[in-house]
Amino acid sequence: MITHVRSVALGVPEIGAAREFFENHWKLDLVATDADRVFLGAGCEDDHVLRLRASAEPRVDVLGLAAATDAEVDEIARRVVTHPRGRLVSEPATCTDAGGGYRFRFLDCEGRTVEVSSGTAVRAFRAVEAGEGRPTGISHVVLNTADLPGALAFYRAVFGFEVSDWVEDIMVFLRSGTAHHLLAFTRAPHVSLNHVAFELRGIDEFMRATGEMVRKGFSPLWGPGRHGVGANAFAYFQEPSSRFVAEYTTGMLRINPDHEWTPRVYPGNAQTSDTWGVAAARDEAVSASLRGCPDLGLWQPPPV
Ligand SMILES: [Fe+2]
Repeated sequence: MITHVRSVALGVPEIGAAREFFENHWKLDLVATDADRVFLGAGCEDDHVLRLRASAEPRVDVLGLAAATDAEVDEIARRVVTHPRGRLVSEPATCTDAGGGYRFRFLDCEGRTVEVSSGTAVRAFRAVEAGEGRPTGISHVVLNTADLPGALAFYRAVFGFEVSDWVEDIMVFLRSGTAHHLLAFTRAPHVSLNHVAFELRGIDEFMRATGEMVRKGFSPLWGPGRHGVGANAFAYFQEPSSRFVAEYTTGMLRINPDHEWTPRVYPGNAQTSDTWGVAAARDEAVSASLRGCPDLGLWQPPPV
């Protein structure tokens, strides 16, 4: 079973600017750097939640998912190998790169590089205290897909994700465990990263973090508000140099695995996207930013 999104690795053309944004403003912790990479952690034991790599063009390098055990890593690898649309990049093996652990990489049905890991090193992290607007980890990732039925079928078959809810037939929310969604797919003209969402400790910390960004001159792309699907609070910001979108979030709906859950299909309207109704309307500029550009990392696993 996938326990959580462990990390996201991005290729960025201006690594200094992206680091400045995510370290100094987004409040991730600097863990390590090497020749062309920066590793940033959060208030959680994962070695890092965000990896930045110097790249000529912005691209998604790796989506990192955490499995509960080594045996589950092996089982997921077996499912990838036997799936007609899965392509193994590396066999499961003990890894010596940042965080270590037992991992493998593959290309999903649309060419994204995905890494599945278990048994990674526990980092001595600084816990987020009450009132502190610093992320506690990654909450979820939303991916734009040019083949929603194919992506949904692939991720269900390989990982056993369950459908939590839909917005019409354009967005599907997937869970593995109690959080309403760890991943979601949205229909788009191309494959790209929609956004990465970082968890805040609670609603007060979420608003403080959002307010600190505003005080520093970063206007939210959209929010703050609360989604009607998944019930999580949202405030989206765009990293200016790479144009990747990051979300502060908190308070997502938890689904008790012992209770029956029937996915619902929500209408694609303002009440669904923003129950509070105080965020500015989700206009075309917001949609365009979340749609992003076609991902240049497809079918090309990063060199590291
Ligand atoms: Fe989100």
